Amino acid sequence: MRSRKIVSTTERRIRKVPKVIAILNQKGGVGKTTLAVHIATALARKKRSVLLLDANPQGSALDWAAARHGEKLFPVIGLPKSSIHKELPAVAANFDVVLIDGPPRVYDVARSAIMASDLVLVPVQPSPYDV
Ligand SMILES: Nc1ncnc2c1ncn2[C@@H]1O[C@H](COP(=O)(O)OP(=O)(O)OP(=O)(O)O)[C@@H](O)[C@H]1O
Ligand SMILES: [Mg+2]
Repeated sequence: MRSRKIVSTTERRIRKVPKVIAILNQKGGVGKTTLAVHIATALARKKRSVLLLDANPQGSALDWAAARHGEKLFPVIGLPKSSIHKELPAVAANFDVVLIDGPPRVYDVARSAIMASDLVLVPVQPSPYDV
């Protein structure tokens, strides 16, 4: 598996390389979408240009985007495909941060999200069978 090249913060800003953060867990209902939306909102309020990428075929983040009211702080796009790591550089070129809301399974889409990311966050429920 080819990992992303490590890029310094300064180089990132000059070359407009986004920081990519995936929120993944094979378990469903652990808070992936909730965290993705809230982190995206917090960063957008700090004047970062943010893209939220919905990599879950269920499309919960897209549903949230369709239902939201008021100022749209960041765009949400759906890409539940195993080609995320290939397509993201072109799609996300002008953003500071990309958040990937992951699917509740380990399969090629999650693998692609990991390959596209600088950082993977794994939220867990505080129960013995979840950790
Ligand atoms: N920190 C939290 N404390 C309590 N409830 C939470 C928290 N985060 C999320 N929830 C609730 O847990 C449920 C599942 O959250 P969410 O949809 O974000 O999980 P998910 O991991 O994205 O699920 P899926 O795998 O189905 O996409 C929702 O009802 C949400 O409101
Ligand atoms: Mg979800």
